[in-house]
Amino acid sequence: MGSRRDYRSMRSCSGWRRILLLIPVLFLLPHLSSLVDFSSDSATRNDARTIPNKKLDHLVLGPVAGQGLSDRFHCRGTKALNKTHGSTSHVSGAGNGVSFVTVFTVYNTSLGNVKSSNPVSVVGNVTYSKPERSMAVLNAFANFIQVTMPKSNVVILTDPASDLSIQQSNVILQPVQGDYSRGNLMLQRIRSYITFLEMKLEKNEGGINHYIFTDSDIAVVDDVGTIFDKHSSFHLALTFRNNKDQPLNSGFIAVRGTREGILRAKVFLEEVLKAYKTKYMKASRMLGDQLALVSVVKSHASFDAKRFTKPQAFTEEIAGASVLFLPCALYNWTPPEGAGQFHGMPLDVKIVHFKGSRKRLMLEAWNFYKSTSNIPDMLCLVLGSGRTKYDF
Ligand SMILES: *[C@@H]1O[C@H](CO)[C@@H](O)[C@H](O)[C@H]1NC(C)=O
Ligand SMILES: *[C@@H]1O[C@H](CO)[C@@H](O)[C@H](O)[C@H]1NC(C)=O
Ligand SMILES: *[C@@H]1O[C@H](CO)[C@@H](O)[C@H](O)[C@H]1NC(C)=O
Repeated sequence: MGSRRDYRSMRSCSGWRRILLLIPVLFLLPHLSSLVDFSSDSATRNDARTIPNKKLDHLVLGPVAGQGLSDRFHCRGTKALNKTHGSTSHVSGAGNGVSFVTVFTVYNTSLGNVKSSNPVSVVGNVTYSKPERSMAVLNAFANFIQVTMPKSNVVILTDPASDLSIQQSNVILQPVQGDYSRGNLMLQRIRSYITFLEMKLEKNEGGINHYIFTDSDIAVVDDVGTIFDKHSSFHLALTFRNNKDQPLNSGFIAVRGTREGILRAKVFLEEVLKAYKTKYMKASRMLGDQLALVSVVKSHASFDAKRFTKPQAFTEEIAGASVLFLPCALYNWTPPEGAGQFHGMPLDVKIVHFKGSRKRLMLEAWNFYKSTSNIPDMLCLVLGSGRTKYDF
């Protein structure tokens, strides 16, 4: 057991890279990275003395990193000292013409004996079984979007056999046929994205609607739809970080909603699917899509991987599409966990990704937001507790 390590963080935008065993026990196939929640309790060697070994089942606030650095977000406790996320995030029109699309599936076989077969956890004063807390994460995902991009909606691509029901005014369920079994999930996710884009090509709904395909364990904390105006010519956008083995994160793929954008994004994803099927079927099932994504990008002759070392947006033509690369630091920021270098949070983070066992923090963050209605203060909570390892 001691050899199990932070497998899930390889899917992350932070700089961890360790492989491990994955013990498939979950019945849910939700915000994908939660499938690999079974990582070790062991902290990194260096910091074993200072970082608690155990995963905690309650919120812990520690010192806020990055204080004193001029380009970082400053907090006093959970009070934000910089004025951020106020200008666009509460504009009532934010999110107009942008949909978030995620893959999420629940089976009633598992829900039937939820209480008996799954341990429960408590967040705030609410008790959740495992499936219930995955639903809570999905709800928090939609709730954050409702707050920061009120005109936006959320499309959940799900197995037609799934028993998902969700009562939120900004959420639409879209069944897509496929094989959503655990071993096939990452492959199916790309397939479902492609099918969804095909549906959009067939049915011209009039007007332009952009799509952002994401994991569901993210909090959108600012109007991310501005990328479509700010960078006017890309067909699709991906997030990158400075990590040699895993420079791209598959948890964020934005597609411009023009016919051309949808078509080129579809062709691009078909390339990724082909690379996955021919090269990475034997790769760990949680990494296949990211490896395939990297392989398509890097196989492009003129692509210079050095561009991943600086957190600056850039555009490249790849597989017939104009691809915008956005830095994870702003568009897919993950609270660091445990030991390691950590220089705090950039001032204008748009998306916080609660990968792996950070999901308790996502629910705590949503609860905190509900009682304060203040996104910057909530980011202080996330930043101040970012080092803690949580239990789910
Ligand atoms: C953020 O707040 C800190 C503390 O008040 C301040 O020193 C820093 O200059 C601010 N940064 C910006 C960019 O406003
Ligand atoms: C799920 O529930 C429906 C209706 O309640 C039932 O017909 C179906 O067999 C169930 N599926 C599974 C896999 O148990
Ligand atoms: C749970 O907490 C919320 C918010 O703090 C509060 O409004 C609610 O009354 C509490 N419920 C119970 C059963 O204590």
